[in-house]
This record gives sequence, C-alpha cells and structure tokens, in this order.
Amino acid sequence: MSNSVTPRWLRTGSRLEYGADYNPEQWPREVWDEDVRAMREAGVTIVSLAIFSWARIEPADGRYDFAWLDEVMDLLHANGISVDLATATASPPPWLTTAHPEILPVNHEGQILWQGGRQHWRPTSPVFREYALRLVRTMAQRYADHPALVAWHVSNELGCHNIYDYSEDAAQAFRVWLRHRYGTVEALNEAWGTAFWAQRYGEWDEILPPRLAASFPNPTQQFDFKRFSSDVLKDYLRAEREILRELTPDVPVTTNFMVMGETKGMNYADWAAEVDFVSNDHYRLPGAQSLDELSFSANLTGNIAGGRPWFLMEHSTSAVNWQPVNLAKRPGELSRDALTHVAHGADAVCYFQWRQSRAGAEKYHSGMVPHAGTDSQLFRDVVALGERLRELSYVQGKRRTPAKAAILFDWESWWASEQDSHPTELLKYKQEALDWYTTFLDLGVRVDVLPASASFDGYDLVVAPILHVMPSALADRLTAFVENGGHLVATYFSGIVDENDHIWLGGYPGPLRDLLGLRIEEFAPLLAGDTVALSDGLEGTLWSDRIDLIDPATEVLATYKTGDYAGRPAVTRRAAGQGSASYVSTKLAPNALAPLLKDLAGRAGVVSELPSELRGRVELTVREGVRFVVNRTDEQLDISSLGGPEPTLAARGVAVLPA
Ligand code: GLA
Ligand code: GLA
Repeated sequence: MSNSVTPRWLRTGSRLEYGADYNPEQWPREVWDEDVRAMREAGVTIVSLAIFSWARIEPADGRYDFAWLDEVMDLLHANGISVDLATATASPPPWLTTAHPEILPVNHEGQILWQGGRQHWRPTSPVFREYALRLVRTMAQRYADHPALVAWHVSNELGCHNIYDYSEDAAQAFRVWLRHRYGTVEALNEAWGTAFWAQRYGEWDEILPPRLAASFPNPTQQFDFKRFSSDVLKDYLRAEREILRELTPDVPVTTNFMVMGETKGMNYADWAAEVDFVSNDHYRLPGAQSLDELSFSANLTGNIAGGRPWFLMEHSTSAVNWQPVNLAKRPGELSRDALTHVAHGADAVCYFQWRQSRAGAEKYHSGMVPHAGTDSQLFRDVVALGERLRELSYVQGKRRTPAKAAILFDWESWWASEQDSHPTELLKYKQEALDWYTTFLDLGVRVDVLPASASFDGYDLVVAPILHVMPSALADRLTAFVENGGHLVATYFSGIVDENDHIWLGGYPGPLRDLLGLRIEEFAPLLAGDTVALSDGLEGTLWSDRIDLIDPATEVLATYKTGDYAGRPAVTRRAAGQGSASYVSTKLAPNALAPLLKDLAGRAGVVSELPSELRGRVELTVREGVRFVVNRTDEQLDISSLGGPEPTLAARGVAVLPA
C-alpha cells in the first residue's frame, strides 16, 4: 500500500459516518429534495452513489449522460452529505451484452448466465475490461474535483454472482495464472498429482477450468481454480484502482467485501492490502447464532483491516429479500446490530439502501426510508441511531484493542476442507469456527478472529479449527508460537494436506504430530445424527480419530467411551516448549466445548474481563480505552458492576463505557 491514501475518517477523529446506498435514478426528480431533507433529519453524512447506474450514465456505446448525476452530486454537497462514488461498473447495460455476448459468464455446466439480473460479466473478459475501465476513467475525470467526492467505491461486491466463470476467457487466464505459479507443465503435473487417473498434461493448452466432468475433477485443479478465481477479481479491483489513483491520487479507494455467512469465494485476508480502507457488507442470517455470526464477521473484518477502523458499507435496517424467509428486525435490533459492528472497529454505519425500492427484485428489502415513508417506526429508529452515532463521535479512529485469545480463520482451509471426495460431506468449516466463537462469547472471554496469515504475537491462546491446509511454514509458525509460550488448540482434520492438497504422510496430522505428541492412523466420521460418548459425560458428533500417543507425557483430557475408538484418547494436551498444544478429535457438542475451553483458556491464563453474572449475557469489546457492552439477551440487565453511568442495559441494548 505504498501510495495509499488515508481516508478522512481514519485521520481526523471527527465523526462516525452514517448513510446508505443511494439510488436516485429509481425515483422522479421531486423525490430527491425529500430525500436530502430526510437524510439531514436522520443525520446521514455519506451515501454510496451510482452503484448500478451504468445504463443511465452511458445509455449507448460511448454516449454519456451525466446531467442527472451532476445534479445529485451538487444537491448532496449543498446539504453537507459526502459521496462514496461508485465506478458504476457493477452491472453492464443491455446494449453492451447485446453487442458483446462474449462478456457473459459461463457456469461449470457450460450454460451462459444471461443479462437481466446483475453482475453478468466475466472477470477475465478483455472486452468487458475495455468498456468498464473506459467508464471508470470517464467517471474519475468527470468528478475528480467535485467537493462531495470523498471515496471511490470500486464496482460492487466483486464476486457476489460471478466468482466462478468457466468460459474460454477464464480457461486462457487460468493457464496464464498456472504458468506463473508452476513455471513448467511438469511442475503442474507434480502439484496436481496427475499420475492419478491418467490426467497427465503434455501442453498448457490441454488444461481447462474444472468444468462438469464424468467424475470428481482433480482436487488440486479445483483448489487452484478457487485461488485463481479470487486472484482474477483481485486483479480486476487493482485495474480499476490504478486508474482512480492516476486521476485522483488524493481520494481513497475501497470495494465492499462480503465477510458474512457462507460467502467464501474471495480471500479477503489477501485482498485487504489492495484497498485504502476495508469496507464490509453484512446481512444477518436467521437462527440461534445469528447475532454471534454478525459479531464473528465484524471481528474478522476488523482483523483483516489489521485492527484499523473499517467501514460498514451495507447492512439492513430490517428484512432482506433473498433468504427463504425474510425476518423483520425486532425492536432494538436495528441499533444493536449497527453498534455491534462499531464495537468491532467500524467507523461507519451504512445500509442498503436509503429509500426502499418500489419496483425491481429488491422491493421487499428494507431501507432507511420504508414504503410507509418517514412517518414510520423504522424511520424514527433510523433517526435515533443517527443521534446515537453523533454522540459516539469520540470513538471514531480508535483501533481495536487485541484480545489475548484468537481463533484462526483461513480461506484456503475453508476451500480445501469442503471439497468433494472427502471423508464426509457434513463437515462445515465456518460452522466449526463459529461454534468456538459462540463458546468464547458464552464464557465471556474476548477473542479475535484472526486470518491465519496474521502474526500470533501478543496472543496467549490460539484456536485452529479445521486448519486443514498446512504448508510447512504455517506449521513452523505454530510450533514457534508454542515454543515461545503460546497455547495452541487444534481440531480434527487440521494439518492434513500441504499447499498442493497432498497428504502429509506417516500418520496425521503430519507437521503437527510431534508438537501435539500424537499420531492418527485413521479417522472415522460419523453419520448425521450419530454421536460418540466421551468421558465426563461429554459428547461428540461428525468426526472421530484413532489416536496413538507418541509422547507418553501427552495428557489425555477426554477418552472415547463409545464408537470405533472406545478407550482411546479423544482430547489431549501436551506441554511443549514454554506453552502447550492441545488436540480435539471430534466436533464437541456445545455443552462439552464450554467446559473444555474454560479449562484450556484458564490454563493459558486467558480469563474473562466481565463480572461473573454478565458472562455469556453480554459481549465485551474494546477500542482503545472504550468498552462496548452488547446485550446478547432479550432482557434488561443490571450492569451496575461495570461502573458506567447507567445501572441497567436495555434488552438488545449496547452500552459504551470508558475502559
Ligand atoms: C448486496 C448488494 C446490494 C443489495 C444487497 C441486498 O449487499 O451489494 O446491492 O443487493 O445485497 O441485501
Ligand atoms: C471403482 C474403480 C476404482 C476406484 C474405486 C473406488 O471400483 O474401478 O478405480 O475408483 O471404485 O471405490
């Protein structure tokens, strides 16, 4: 990030930004005046503009209509609202796909993804790039000196719908990427293990993306295609950014990540260095861990941003439109959700979108101004949140204060552990990490969700759930962490393969065997619904390992009571170097995970900073001298023991206190 630009909200300590995607092209001109009036009432400071405006800005090839956008920019500026201006390239207009159908993506079955939705473009299409980058240049030239412009918003949610494209353009680009990675076809054959099933390649041109095949496509081919697909979108982000930096070197550039739910195609830990500030979009999923997952994503986003403040670019005031059943938010959730992001380092709270649409696929998606208009409870809640954010201006610019414990999160392990032809299809990488996170929250122990590539310095306890892909450098870092006094907890299916998805031989988990003091000859996954009993009344699901201790000093914390490996160790801990290395060989039920984690954290010296009566009931985060206390329950809580000015915390409320 040598020539990166620090955005205003990272340098001045002025205010938390508040706003939304603003799509004025969906509304008649007279609504715009009402929009800015209501924005001022709500305390809106910033909007993201022109995200889906390509067809309006460039109605025909090379013909531009900027009059309306000039007017919107001026109107916003006159009302003190800044603009995070999109490059408008997210969705190509019909004239372009009609003239150049070769920009349309192709799925793995060879079907074309047609126009009529959005994001129907191939990241590798030279024709798409030519048209899109011309628009970026035109936008940057037009608005370089506009006083409302404070940031550039590259495209929109890169990879939301077009992460995997199997077209001819993709095939060609994949070959270029592979040449760069491997140098020679021989090296690729070795890395892909093509001695298997007569897959040996003689020439680069024989290589394809993993299109629909008669049986399982080569696993390393699949793994590399995932890496490649993340890389080509990152490369596209760079291409737009370079034009913006050339024409507007003082305007910071971002693009909205999707650290949320099961969105896994883009390796954001790897993308973060490409933007001047990290932004994220988050939408809650229904279910018992809904709020925990929000917190997990915000936590990970903050750590991808290296602890620096980040920008919440989108979330929802209430329901979305794209889940099977779209729940409305309950009273208090609008504010609680927003402030939970702030608690994890967000310096901006923005929504999709400002005014709920009247037409189109998102007309049932909530906005800051609902169909009912500003005379509505939702808009009153929006105004109240704006006031709260103004009161919290002093939080702006404050970094996350690291925890003593970390959960490692690794996109490559996510990709590789869930590929086909594995011991079980039931394994869910993100769910395992989230279950550990929920347990930390239940114990009231602060934890950071950390990219596996980040430094472990300063952490006393590191949990590695399903850290499946283990290049030797990562194993060395984990070993050094333990040697130097760190406490590591690894779970089942960790340390199984190297960076080429080749098994580490000699017993699992190859590069961690000595550190853990054990050796696994075989694993036995469990059928859905089956459980395995452990000592102390604990229970496991999903997985079991046949463990032999290779260091007699390895402590057995729990043994299998039932199942194929009855009588053998299930959970172990080995004192190593100045620290320890523990292993959990099954998916522990929540009532088993909590006592185990409490014990392991305690032995690592990691304790709750909350009074016992609040543990599990609130989440605590810290930003440089400011404590955020999020009520995880639906009841009012007595928080007098925290020493703040208010003795109680409302149901779903968030208290902000001096540390
Ligand atoms: C994404 C997109 C928005 C909108 C929302 C709806 O985040 O970026 O344009 O479609 O989803 O939840
Ligand atoms: C079949 C095939 C083998 C192998 C096994 C795996 O029998 O002939 O090559 O793939 O299945 O079970």
